[in-house]
Amino acid sequence: DRAEREASFEELIAADQRIEPRDAMPEAYRRTLVRQIAQHAHSEIIGMQPEGAWITRAPSLRRKAILVAKVQDEAGHGMYLYSAAETLGVDRGELLEMLHEGKQKYSSIFNYPTLTWADCGAIGWLVDGAAIMNQVPLCRCSYGPYARAMIRVCKEESFHQRQGFEILWTLMRGTPAQQQMAQDAVDRWWWPALMMFGPHDSGEAASNGHTAQSMAWGIKRFSNDDLRQRFVDMMVQQADRLGVRIPDPDLRWDEERQQHDFGAIDWSEFKAVLAGDGACNAERIAHRRRAHDDGAWVREAALAHARKHEARQQV
Ligand code: ACO
Repeated sequence: DRAEREASFEELIAADQRIEPRDAMPEAYRRTLVRQIAQHAHSEIIGMQPEGAWITRAPSLRRKAILVAKVQDEAGHGMYLYSAAETLGVDRGELLEMLHEGKQKYSSIFNYPTLTWADCGAIGWLVDGAAIMNQVPLCRCSYGPYARAMIRVCKEESFHQRQGFEILWTLMRGTPAQQQMAQDAVDRWWWPALMMFGPHDSGEAASNGHTAQSMAWGIKRFSNDDLRQRFVDMMVQQADRLGVRIPDPDLRWDEERQQHDFGAIDWSEFKAVLAGDGACNAERIAHRRRAHDDGAWVREAALAHARKHEARQQV
């Protein structure tokens, strides 16, 4: 019976069909998905903080309204993703506890500070741009609930990227001080955005090997380096339009590869951020824990209401 169930999983994967929660799946496949989806969900809700910090300081009512909507979208993405993870038999309370205790990761990118208003532009343009590049292929992920969640998430992310581009566009057409502020934000966010794609596929700074297995299972469709390369090629064109400089002296078009060459990523910085030594790691987790504790009464009230409702229906 077990062999039969395993065969049907392999058949579905080979035929590029979706695996659904009721289907049999190898334990390692389930664990990989829980790890990735939880990390993704945590990134969405921790990712509310860097821009959330600018809601009260947005330069106009229009910018404030857009930013509030964007940060709310991120909360929504987190919720879809926790729901997708729950279809794999885990509980969102447990996942949040693991985040709070540092037992599960969230994206390195959210451990950098947002120093000026232009950072909201750079995050939208670069960070959400990188997120789209990574997440569009996840719409074809072999696990149905994750793939379906990604469709809406990607639509919203592309709106987020455009709003970031538009913030920078406006600043680049402003005063010299505004142009300088936009360039400074791009200088600070460029390299961390490249790190979002994760370690290299091979060589010294290589990934610990999730990629090959995840690609064989149809979870990942492209390797970290392939997506990073596509991102660089796309951003060079957009930077030209914006009039910002990409802070990489080694960036140049490679006629032979028909792609851009770019400089070496500082993986020691990536490792330090993952180990908890980024500029904002402690602040992000402390803020998250505080928000969770402050929200305890809401969860309790919602639960009490649900129980009351359930009891009434049974009468
Ligand atoms: N930040 C933190 N950790 C990272 C990052 C990153 N930018 N990139 C890789 N890692 C971790 C991996 O989680 C893995 O750690 P683990 O073994 O302890 O779980 C390790 O580094 C090695 O990396 P890979 O072998 O490449 O791991 P994986 O196959 O999971 O690929 C990737 C990493 C590309 C991030 C993948 O998990 C993914 O596509 N996730 C979904 C997208 C996502 O999480 N986006 C979040 C940021 S975008 C946003 O929220 C707006």
